[in-house]
Amino acid sequence: MSERLTATPPGVTLGPFMLIPDNAARNFVLEMRAGRFHGFVVRKGETVHGYVDRCAHMALPLTQTLDDYLTPDGALIQCSWHGALYRIDDGACVGGPCVGAKLTPWPVAVIDGMIVTA
Ligand code: FES
Repeated sequence: MSERLTATPPGVTLGPFMLIPDNAARNFVLEMRAGRFHGFVVRKGETVHGYVDRCAHMALPLTQTLDDYLTPDGALIQCSWHGALYRIDDGACVGGPCVGAKLTPWPVAVIDGMIVTA
């Protein structure tokens, strides 16, 4: 079994920015020599926010349904296991069992219409 990584090198192109609809999120898995990285990117308008796909409560991946990272109104990131709620812009937990904890940021940026690790 390969090791689960919590960071990626900068400059990895993940795909076109338009891949993610506004107010939605997408899962990414990067297979690297050192192991496998699981993360997700949330799009808000022209901005993207990336996080490692690991809840601050019990270190589980947040979703049980592909790409289903947000509350129905798109305002917060929600863990599907015990309902932890995280702010999209800084990953701070603002509701549920781990208030005050944070998601691990995964730096990403949009460059020339492509989402790229930063
Ligand atoms: S593992 Fe996410 S809320 Fe418990």
